[in-house]
Amino acid sequence: ATERTLILVKPDGVQRGLVGEVIARIERKGFRLEALELRTLEREKAEEHYAEHRERPFFGELVAFITSGPLVALCVSGEGAIAGMRTLMGATNPLDATPGSIRGDFATEIGENIVHGSDSPESAERELGIFFPDRF
Ligand code: CMP
Repeated sequence: ATERTLILVKPDGVQRGLVGEVIARIERKGFRLEALELRTLEREKAEEHYAEHRERPFFGELVAFITSGPLVALCVSGEGAIAGMRTLMGATNPLDATPGSIRGDFATEIGENIVHGSDSPESAERELGIFFPDRF
């Protein structure tokens, strides 16, 4: 089915100049860009986005990092886009991510893993509502 998903190029990806690299891979794969915005996230939005991780020991670190500088939020669509983007990104822990994937090629740390992608249709709709409230 055609799906849409929220993708973030996190502050480490922006800082390292990898925005073009990530977007090029998404486009070459054949997915479509439906929305794109560079912004620095407010703490409240970050806590809402990562609400499911609120009880984790790394929650404070996660929110501090994701609000530490500008990120790029994207709505990406296409056939099987949710799972497809997770394959393109690679495993959450970059040390487990296959070479050829974004995390596998560009990252070593689980906290600074360049990209985020929604993990289910429910998460995608919820997360798109946080980042693009007037569009999705
Ligand atoms: P993301 O897909 O954005 O969703 C939750 C994030 O938590 C995940 O990517 C990781 O970057 C981060 N994360 C997961 N485990 C840890 C950890 N042990 N320490 C710090 N960050 C983590």
